[in-house]
Amino acid sequence: MSTSHPKLALPPLSLYVHLPWCVQKCPYCDFNSHTLNGTLPEAPYIEALLSDLALDLPHVWGRTVHSVFMGGGTPSLFSAEAIEKLLSGIAACVNLSPMAEITLEANPGTVEHDRFEAYREAGINRISLGIQSFNTTHLTRLGRIHDGNDAHQAIEAVQQAGFDRINLDLMWALPDQTPEMMLDDLTQALRYDTGHVSHYQLTLEPNTVFAKHPPTLPDEDDVIAMMELSERAFHQAGYSPYEISAWAKPGHASQHNLNYWCFGDYLGIGAGAHGKITLPATQTIMRTRRKLIPHSYLSASQDQSFVAERISVSEADVAFEYFLNRFRLAAPIAWTEFEERTGLARACVDGPIARAVALGLIEVDDNQIVRTSRGAQFLNDLQQLFLD
Ligand SMILES: C[S@@+](CC[C@H](N)C(=O)[O-])C[C@H]1O[C@@H](n2cnc3c(N)ncnc32)[C@H](O)[C@@H]1O
Ligand code: SF4
Repeated sequence: MSTSHPKLALPPLSLYVHLPWCVQKCPYCDFNSHTLNGTLPEAPYIEALLSDLALDLPHVWGRTVHSVFMGGGTPSLFSAEAIEKLLSGIAACVNLSPMAEITLEANPGTVEHDRFEAYREAGINRISLGIQSFNTTHLTRLGRIHDGNDAHQAIEAVQQAGFDRINLDLMWALPDQTPEMMLDDLTQALRYDTGHVSHYQLTLEPNTVFAKHPPTLPDEDDVIAMMELSERAFHQAGYSPYEISAWAKPGHASQHNLNYWCFGDYLGIGAGAHGKITLPATQTIMRTRRKLIPHSYLSASQDQSFVAERISVSEADVAFEYFLNRFRLAAPIAWTEFEERTGLARACVDGPIARAVALGLIEVDDNQIVRTSRGAQFLNDLQQLFLD
């Protein structure tokens, strides 16, 4: 980015930590997750993460970290002692806000009851549970290691441990799922009143078992019926869709995910983790990527070669990347936010903005851009307009 766009400002900073192992790989999953063969290399991995974090510190001196997200993989395979060591190490080298949201993803099949209390004592203040469904037949079909009973027990254990920020991940449009079954899953989840539910339509991702051997998914009519039923159930329970798949009650939106979607900055450590850091001195945005394979990442401890790539986002890409994230959110976009986060003048996007308005995907005035309900429905088309 050239100095002709002097407005690039520092956005809030988050930290993402990737913990890549799972008990077994789910057939639909294309995340950087790997079946754990043998013993979890807990201590060496935590050590590697902390050395890795040190590499990025010179780029963020003096900045406060507002949220931490431990994602996977299955972070709940790690003991509370290991998570405590990791968090203390993080807090010792970055300026961690005392109000920071600190999330850990947990799999209902990997946590015994007392573990959640120990996570809370270690400093975790938000749990994201991969429930997916309460229906054991569907869970088996999804290759999950837990059943409906485990799902209920995990939620109860997290609530009993005293967490007041809890997300439940549910997937819908599952093989052989009817709209009634989908509603039954959602109703059971909403009964726990956790305040946050991520409701993901199952997608068949390339290079997964489901892509190779596709299951029969609900037809279009059923998918539409599921959308309508779930919208009604969420609204009745007091939840709003603040993001395309994330529903929350007031005050429960995920601060970490909001920062991603608002094109904030984040350090990304751990196997395959991505980061984005604004460098005001050079008026550039840097993207970072760590070595993907856990084994190679661990071996990188020897010479601190964790980073696979550091690149500057080109001016041509920055507007697309901003809108790709930002249009996921329902909240209007202030033009000043666009200018500060991208360092671009609004005239740079006159063309795609005009096309999106003409298609009824957004409404625009001098202050802001508002995604219409049509824009939410055809989100991919809206995002694509900014690719050119
Ligand atoms: C990174 S995964 C980690 C959560 C944790 N490992 C677990 O599965 O319990 C986050 C969430 O993405 C969702 N997800 C993963 N693959 C998906 C797919 N192909 N389609 C829809 N949702 C998916 C699941 O709901 C999952 O809980
Ligand atoms: S447990 Fe989660 S991260 Fe692991 S394979 Fe299954 S969906 Fe992917």
